[in-house]
Amino acid sequence: MLHWVFGYGSLIYKVDFPYLARQPAHILGWERRFWQGSHDHRGTPEAPGRVVTLVEVAGQRCDGVAYCISESVFEHLDHREKNGYRRVDTPMTLADRREVTATVYIADERNHAFLGPETLYEIAQHIDRSHGPSGSNREYLLTLAESLREMGVHDQHVFDLEALLFDNA
Ligand code: SIN
Repeated sequence: MLHWVFGYGSLIYKVDFPYLARQPAHILGWERRFWQGSHDHRGTPEAPGRVVTLVEVAGQRCDGVAYCISESVFEHLDHREKNGYRRVDTPMTLADRREVTATVYIADERNHAFLGPETLYEIAQHIDRSHGPSGSNREYLLTLAESLREMGVHDQHVFDLEALLFDNA
């Protein structure tokens, strides 16, 4: 059985799983936000980092990357996204205009690692000082910003945080 998965954070640029097809895609009604705590990748349980999740905002569009995977790949993805993310099925539009159903990993406010909103300055400071087993939180943000730019995607939240990191350098 084949499935579509929509990646909007590290799944855009860290592709450590097999796939049958990959192309840009978007979903509607969601916005990317650095509101999720990371205990296992870009921080630790004692000093969590901040990574992206999606929040529901009517009329918004979130651009990312779609992967067509076989069912067995979910085992790897569920493990990778285990710190608060749950699988949600949502309509997705592929760059080739096909409308399909995609699985998205979303961490909502009910999960134990959720951090929620803060000022952009606070979020940037938090990212700047955090590190975890997968590397620095700074690298997570900068690589995401670079990947979005390469795809021609503008994400004000991500780009504002990136600018604040450079101001802080
Ligand atoms: C995703 O990339 O789609 C989920 C969040 C993350 O792993 O950064």
